[in-house]
Amino acid sequence: MEDNQVTPMPRIGDKAPEFKAVTTQGEINFPGDYKGSWVILFSHPADFTPVCTSEFMTFASMEKQFNEANCKLVGLSVDGLYSHIAWLRTIKEKIEYKGMKNVEVTFPLIEDITMEVAKTYGMLQPGESSTKAVRAVFFIDPKGIIRTIIYYPLSLGRNFDELYRVVIGLQTADAFSVALPADWQPGDDVIVPTAGSCGVAKQRMESKEEMHCYDWFFCTKKLDKEKVLKTVLKK
Ligand code: BEZ
Repeated sequence: MEDNQVTPMPRIGDKAPEFKAVTTQGEINFPGDYKGSWVILFSHPADFTPVCTSEFMTFASMEKQFNEANCKLVGLSVDGLYSHIAWLRTIKEKIEYKGMKNVEVTFPLIEDITMEVAKTYGMLQPGESSTKAVRAVFFIDPKGIIRTIIYYPLSLGRNFDELYRVVIGLQTADAFSVALPADWQPGDDVIVPTAGSCGVAKQRMESKEEMHCYDWFFCTKKLDKEKVLKTVLKK
């Protein structure tokens, strides 16, 4: 591709662009190697930087939790492989942060010195930095479809509870054919699809069972936390 050609950024609902890459865990074929799993592909600006270090320690500490939700993690920055290896060794051997220590990052971290993957995924946002990737997070489903994208700037570390909530929320919405209201957490009421006919709208407003309707277009129902966790975490 010529330098002046701009690659369109992938969007929600698009197939995750394919690539082969060298990582700290060997070569990967993305997203083919992750078929059947959810995957979070995320970028960070640079190795050996403080915000990124706090993020990697947090992500690594939560990896088991993500894996239990059938979600794998893949990181990326435009640094080289040896920088990645040295940084991850430093994190494990030297950094103690918020009660986390001896943290081993076992998920793959992609080297992208050519910036090819970062450009394809719209992780380079020149208004913020033309030499470093922003903090992008792509949530990709087991069929390789991008389901959520979140971007953070260089100066703000991600909220990992929110990233986990997105993984659980997407799987819950799929499994139960519902939508999820603001700040939803497992155990909270869920939104049933909006009535598609006058008859259904009337029925819902008159029915006092099962659903609670704030108005005909906004009806919720209970969904037990146990049911959600059993479905998503197989527990
Ligand atoms: C950081 O992770 O601390 C950082 C990285 C790039 C620019 C600014 C901060």
